Amino acid sequence: KNILFVASECVPFIKTGGLADVVGSLPKYFPKEYFDVRVVIPKYAGIKEQFRNQMQYVTNFYMDLNWRQQYVGIFEMEYEGIKFYFIDNEEHFGGSTPYAGMPWDLEKFAYFSKAALSILPTIGFRPDLIHCHDWQTGLVPVYLHERFQADEFYRGIKTVMTIHNLKFQGIWDRKTIQSITGLSDYYFTPDKLEFKHDASYLKGGLVYADAITTVSNTYAQEIQTPFYGEGLDGLMCARANDLRGIVNGLDYNEWNPETDAQIAKNFNAKNFRKEKVKNKLALQEELGLEVNPKTMMIGIVSRLTDQKGFDLISYMMDEMCQDAVQFVILGTGEERYENMFRHFAWKYDKKVSANIYYSDAMSHKIYASCDAFLMPSLFEPCGLSQLMSLRYGTLPIVRETGGLKDTVEPYNEYEGTGTGFSFTNYNAHEMMGTVRYAERIYYDKKREWNKMIDRAMAQDFSWANSAKQYEEMYNWLIG
Ligand code: ADP
Ligand code: GLC
Repeated sequence: KNILFVASECVPFIKTGGLADVVGSLPKYFPKEYFDVRVVIPKYAGIKEQFRNQMQYVTNFYMDLNWRQQYVGIFEMEYEGIKFYFIDNEEHFGGSTPYAGMPWDLEKFAYFSKAALSILPTIGFRPDLIHCHDWQTGLVPVYLHERFQADEFYRGIKTVMTIHNLKFQGIWDRKTIQSITGLSDYYFTPDKLEFKHDASYLKGGLVYADAITTVSNTYAQEIQTPFYGEGLDGLMCARANDLRGIVNGLDYNEWNPETDAQIAKNFNAKNFRKEKVKNKLALQEELGLEVNPKTMMIGIVSRLTDQKGFDLISYMMDEMCQDAVQFVILGTGEERYENMFRHFAWKYDKKVSANIYYSDAMSHKIYASCDAFLMPSLFEPCGLSQLMSLRYGTLPIVRETGGLKDTVEPYNEYEGTGTGFSFTNYNAHEMMGTVRYAERIYYDKKREWNKMIDRAMAQDFSWANSAKQYEEMYNWLIG
């Protein structure tokens, strides 16, 4: 069976968040005897030279989009056993980052969605199912319905739409979207692309896809309610039978403390009691924090946006810095949060290290070095950072929402269970209370803390289970 992934980012080529981790790892975990899974992404100028040089040019053609003809170049490359296709168009993908923001991204991803369908006969790959990810590919099921189904080649291709984040939908005024996409009036009614007098790409995908998934069970439930539904909770309820939550996995080869070449000292579930702390010492040294193996170090690796709960952190940072803790932050995003962390790093220079940039290498060091990882998200479809933390024996402190709730089991000191700490309400004091509770366990009950690390590192969030669930769904759809 042939499966095609269509997505706007993918590890190792280009990444802004967890979407890229998922698209870059999941395809490797299907049994090769049954599934030929291939991936198509844009050929961004920002893809590393090393990969751009390995791509093979296939061919090019011109494609109609709205009122003009647009160039579609195709490149291909095999990487770790998976065939990747890259769509080349300098006008759309020539920027240094994948996203330019609205409204610039509207035409870019209408173009990409249509091109991903258009190249199929040329590359000679007829998918039984196309798996689309997030709003950037929301128009794939729509275009498939609008024009391609009329063509024998495309007839009967199934589609799955996976929601990694419902917050971003590709919403703009209807007239603009209509002229950009070239879709007829028929598609702009409230039961299709129209969304509160505007239009939404993702909504189109959610209406036309044969099945919908999201990246955790709890988030699948949450988006059927107004608080998390981003205006689409009605549609999510209406499609509840076709909607399922499948929790993300991690690429356990890439994220492995035992073999990770990017960390100071490798360790595993047996020797972490002695070895893990060497990473902390190296990082304290590197970042100019007070070098002390005993001090509890709390990590944050994140896009700096409201989604991740940074307003809670901003209220409590001063107070938390009175305690015997260190904070190591790695992230970029909204300026106010970038500056907030710079400010605290200046104010508490031996306690807080603000690293306002993007670095895979530094992220590995933080996951390996810290004692705890703070992620008090307002909403979290799945979250991969907490899974990386668990894998490296760094105990997550999270808010009970979405995938955080499904993957972090709160510590229960009476039963001796749990893999982290969590709180329920989106409330700054509740968060701080939980951080302080973790501090008490860390300082006063080290044995308990280490047993919790034992449990955390014994968790299995590799793709094995989740890939099986996708497989079942593909089989159910394709028959
Ligand atoms: P989201 O996709 O919402 O950003 P996830 O937790 O699913 O959240 O995934 C975030 C991914 O991005 C993780 O792999 C995390 O390590 C990575 N990441 C976020 N910010 C940075 C950064 N500044 N440098 C390196 N990696 C980062
Ligand atoms: C989104 C979500 C995050 C999820 C990731 C991968 O970016 O914000 O929770 O882990 O997609 O599915």
